[in-house]
Amino acid sequence: MRVLTADHPLIQHKLTYLRDKRTDSPTFRRLAEELMTLLAYEATREVRTQPFEIETPVAPTTGIKLAKPKPLIVPILRAGLGMLEGMVRMLPSAEVGFLGMQRNEVTLEATTYANRLPDDLTDRQVFVLDPMLATGGSMVDAIRFLVDRGARDITPVTLLAAPEGIARLEADLADVSPPITLVTGSIDEKLNELGYIVPGLGDAGDRLYGVV
Ligand code: PRP
Ligand code: URA
Repeated sequence: MRVLTADHPLIQHKLTYLRDKRTDSPTFRRLAEELMTLLAYEATREVRTQPFEIETPVAPTTGIKLAKPKPLIVPILRAGLGMLEGMVRMLPSAEVGFLGMQRNEVTLEATTYANRLPDDLTDRQVFVLDPMLATGGSMVDAIRFLVDRGARDITPVTLLAAPEGIARLEADLADVSPPITLVTGSIDEKLNELGYIVPGLGDAGDRLYGVV
């Protein structure tokens, strides 16, 4: 698995405000969206394209357009929804699938309560959006759904990642053949005893949408 940390100063600047516990939900939502748009630049570096003939007002030329089949974007509900707009803004022709997952706060095991993915992902490039990679359990399960459907390559995009979560992806997905590239805004220090990322930003879903 490749790991790319987008250490651009604008990303770190916005992450700082996102982490700050004084940041309210509307601002948190705006920042998560903006951060996704910035991370999309890194995440889509290897998006597949094909040549495209056009004419400028001056001369014919060959450009490029996104190749078919279209990329698939998969936000992991709830918190991944906060990144969706920022990604579709950059890839408006992509399709969107959904996975709903919830981590048990005691066992830290993830369960899947919703799955709206295409049955066949043969040859599809897939971008999985979730702000937090903590133990990695949710992301491992999400990636397995995509591998089982034949995805060509998979790019998980997170705002923060814990070293423990990255190690878990590497260990648990070692047998997987599609290439995986993790793109993250930051690799934080560690997980605490409750499974929260340190320093992190707290509970991303709650900060986006409130405690429900
Ligand atoms: C959070 C986060 C990830 C998961 C990460 O979601 O958005 O999906 O926890 O933890 P893990 O790497 O240890 O699996 P949560 O389960 O809290 O659900 P929510 O998005 O609905 O708040
Ligand atoms: N999920 C969150 O929302 N935050 C964490 O720090 C870990 C998991």
